Amino acid sequence: MEQLFSEGIKKTPSSFIREILKTTAQEDVISFAGGLPNPISFPINELKESTNRIITTFESKVFQYGTTEGYEPLREYIADRYKAKHGLKFEKDDILITTGSQQALDLLGKVLINKGDAVAIEKPGYLGAIQSCSLYQPSFKEITLTQEGLNTDELESVLQNNKVKFLYTVPNFQNPTGITYSRENRAKIREIIADHDTFLVEDDPYGDLRFEGEDLSYIGGDFLPQSILLGSISKIITPGFRLGWICTKNRELMNYLVIAKQAADLHSNIFAQYIIYDYLSHNDLNQHITKIKALYKEQSSAMKEAIQQYFPKEVSCTSPQGGMFMWATLPKGQSSLDLFQRASQKKVVFVPGDPFYTNQTNAPTLRLNYTNSNPDTITEGIKRIASVM
Ligand SMILES: Cc1ncc(COP(=O)(O)O)c(C=O)c1O
Repeated sequence: MEQLFSEGIKKTPSSFIREILKTTAQEDVISFAGGLPNPISFPINELKESTNRIITTFESKVFQYGTTEGYEPLREYIADRYKAKHGLKFEKDDILITTGSQQALDLLGKVLINKGDAVAIEKPGYLGAIQSCSLYQPSFKEITLTQEGLNTDELESVLQNNKVKFLYTVPNFQNPTGITYSRENRAKIREIIADHDTFLVEDDPYGDLRFEGEDLSYIGGDFLPQSILLGSISKIITPGFRLGWICTKNRELMNYLVIAKQAADLHSNIFAQYIIYDYLSHNDLNQHITKIKALYKEQSSAMKEAIQQYFPKEVSCTSPQGGMFMWATLPKGQSSLDLFQRASQKKVVFVPGDPFYTNQTNAPTLRLNYTNSNPDTITEGIKRIASVM
């Protein structure tokens, strides 16, 4: 029945992380694999109160169909927060609520990619973006990520030589590397993008989780006609509600995104949108985020220290200023897939680098998540990996 399936789905890689998560559900395995927020950061009691309150207040409304664009007060809240924190001038009509920012990526693929179109993406890049784009069969153009951000010479050359539909970036605490683009790098990318007929996607689920250094302005934010900014509550409130958003001032794009969303799921879960808006109106989100940042700072320090103490000196590692991941590079010639096999026998797992590239196997790199284990467990896990390096 092979011929009955679409070319797109046959070419789409399955999520390596989701597969790993299945095999590592046992209690005694230390997992640095998933990108899971620490469950102690979920505001469970506050969400319980909000749930009760919205049912009492709005009754059947919260159980009814909603609008495709999303719950208006929530969209207004998001616009106001970008204004207060970053000076961006988004309004509610520039915001489409999505089923997690993962759906935003899928909608962008639907609206922008024809088979064979060029899409520029960081190397290494977020595997969920690679996966969701793959369904629409683009030709990926990888742009090397350096400690400073994107290699802008490569970006310039890719944009000169291809009709690139969009550049996909994660400028803050990138997934998988934890790297943050520098101020200069952002300015240079902005200049390059402004000269080309292409969209710029800034996917920013981690930007609020800065535990070191100062916030930097977005590359495109709200000021390039081709700017698209993605956000999510997954890493700052809860991923289970599946709520994210797309912001763009480009009307034509927004209209197409709304049509694509109607076709996909009519609208995102309205019950969850009411709860989250109520939660946001009755609690101080910044105070909540401050607690998460303190937690992740401690966990990332534990991982950094353990790596310095136990990993061989030839293994290099990024040092994130926020977010959830570190990225280690093994000496040339070594494969992190082989290391993964040995480490899993010691009951510790991570994500080998391969799925973060569109076209590379046996990469010497690996992603380590530090947000879902306590500092002692982190130290023990790193020691176990080091013992089989
Ligand atoms: C860069 C990036 N984009 C998007 C997502 C998806 O997030 P959401 O839970 O909002 O769908 C993730 C999740 O890990 C991510 O790391």
